[in-house]
Amino acid sequence: MATFTPTADVVAEAVQAGYFPPRHTVEITDVTELTPGVVRLAFHDPYIAAHAKPAQFVNLYTKDPMRLMPRPFGVSEIEGDEVSVIFAVVGEGTAEFARYQAGDTVDVLGPLGNPFKTKNPAHYLLVAGGLGVPPLVRAAQHLAADERSRTTAVVGYRDVRFADDVFARYADRTVSIDNAHGNVVTLLDRLEADGGLTVDGLETVILSCGPLPMMKAVAAWAAKRSLACQLSMEQRMGCGFGTCVLCTVDTVDGRLKVCADGPVFTREQLGWGQ
Ligand SMILES: Cc1cc2nc3c(=O)[nH]c(=O)nc-3n(C[C@H](O)[C@H](O)[C@H](O)COP(=O)(O)OP(=O)(O)OC[C@H]3O[C@@H](n4cnc5c(N)ncnc54)[C@H](O)[C@@H]3O)c2cc1C
Ligand code: FES
Repeated sequence: MATFTPTADVVAEAVQAGYFPPRHTVEITDVTELTPGVVRLAFHDPYIAAHAKPAQFVNLYTKDPMRLMPRPFGVSEIEGDEVSVIFAVVGEGTAEFARYQAGDTVDVLGPLGNPFKTKNPAHYLLVAGGLGVPPLVRAAQHLAADERSRTTAVVGYRDVRFADDVFARYADRTVSIDNAHGNVVTLLDRLEADGGLTVDGLETVILSCGPLPMMKAVAAWAAKRSLACQLSMEQRMGCGFGTCVLCTVDTVDGRLKVCADGPVFTREQLGWGQ
């Protein structure tokens, strides 16, 4: 069965008329393997580039008609009209995206979900684990333009430290660790011991994304110190915009949708580390 995907012209007209652009086709500008099994893919999309905030995500659609559901990825960096995502190859969908080359096309929808709240001046601790890196890179990039705030990237890797260079471009300070030497809580404890939690008298706020056990540990660490903590959740998704109810998470306010109510929730909303 043929599906209708609007062209760039149709999308430009819809955006001009004030509509959120539907799924549309964009040109891929770069595909680079950062480390075995971890790929950075960039595409040209003026709308997403102008609107994607930290922790918002995009749906990418595979070309395989048997795989109708899109794959969600956090927006990582924006350079002009170019948007990039970073992903691990874990299944058939991500394997297909990893085979793409500059000049190929991909269907995309976004930006989706709600961003981290970063309006208040603060010292933001950007705590990332594994493939939780992309939304925190975007947060570092976004906050680099805010002279009132400071950022420290706190990054835990399985082995290769594939995102230290990109964090260093935007964050005021970057500290990282691999599994053989500890985890992000090890780094947070060190920062606290070295007096690195407080910068310029600003309130310290944690933004975090990573594997579930890591985020629970980060929330508990924050709660012990009464620090604000926003967590970007990952959940298996269908539509990505609130209609299929595949992506719910338990919160103190009942079951909420990660795609439409999140992906960002506070530790209080999740009832973590109280
Ligand atoms: C809001 C959001 C943002 C995301 N951002 C990123 C990102 O920036 N980088 C990145 O590498 N991945 C990210 N993911 C996970 C990514 O969407 C999945 O890895 C991808 O959809 C897998 O597609 P696949 O066809 O290759 O694998 P599949 O064949 O569909 O699945 C392969 C394996 O991956 C697991 N998986 C599939 N979907 C998810 C999911 N949504 N969350 C966790 N595990 C999943 C499956 O349980 C299975 O074990 C994000 C997920 C969400 C919900
Ligand atoms: S993915 Fe469909 S409702 Fe969240």
